[in-house]
Amino acid sequence: MYTQSMDTLSPEEKQLEAAAKAKLRSAEELQLQQDFDARIDAGDFIEAKDWMPEHYRRTLVRQISQHAHSEIVGMLPEGNWISRAPTLKRKAILLSKIQDEGGHGLYLYAAAETLGTSRDQLLDALHTGKAKYSSIFNYPTLTWADMGVIGWLVDGAAIMNQVPLCRCSFAPYARAMIRICREESFHQRQGYEALLTMMTQGTESQRAMVQESVNRWWWPSLMMFGPPDAESPNSEQSMRWGIKRISNDDLRQKFVDATVEQAKVLGVSLP
Ligand SMILES: [Fe+2]
Ligand SMILES: [Fe+2]
Repeated sequence: MYTQSMDTLSPEEKQLEAAAKAKLRSAEELQLQQDFDARIDAGDFIEAKDWMPEHYRRTLVRQISQHAHSEIVGMLPEGNWISRAPTLKRKAILLSKIQDEGGHGLYLYAAAETLGTSRDQLLDALHTGKAKYSSIFNYPTLTWADMGVIGWLVDGAAIMNQVPLCRCSFAPYARAMIRICREESFHQRQGYEALLTMMTQGTESQRAMVQESVNRWWWPSLMMFGPPDAESPNSEQSMRWGIKRISNDDLRQKFVDATVEQAKVLGVSLP
């Protein structure tokens, strides 16, 4: 699951970027750069074997690998609840959702590998703490209602973040995102349906459990859209490259607008 909040550079990465910009370039390289810029401006897709600037390549490796890590790490808090699902039906749904997330991680590692970074390098960066993953998965899952709320809000926010990536200028990433987005929409719906069942057919204490879970996950879900536009330093470059299509604040507002109506149908209040 991709979140725009990961779109920030470490001091080490900033130094690399500055060094790359300061480097002298040959006439041939300048020509390649101009051709690349023209293709981006024309809305073309860039394939793995095409020439691309190093900065573009590094930005994509960082974003795709962090996205992949988030899919894999995201399996953990939900995996906790497989053995505690209340019915066979819910257990089957939860299992298949978690398997989907594992699949998303694998497609994305494959997309990052097309940029010349091996899976071992990607995993090593995760294990040594150099690569980030979405901090939403550090929050504990305390109740069964969290399984519904994660689907509804966390996968819901992920879809908002990810749908624009289906038109990302790097073609292998865009292609992976098309299938991923279809599966994410199942994740969102299964979560919402589980909550709706508890709210309409459940007991008073089940309804209270749902509300308590919504209260805990609401603000972390909004933070998945990243810092406000004015404080999002990488956004401008990523927008120019067609890696990012919609700003953090616009996406966050779209999510709030959609979610407020769904909360009314559900009968929960948003904090
Ligand atoms: Fe996913
Ligand atoms: Fe998902």
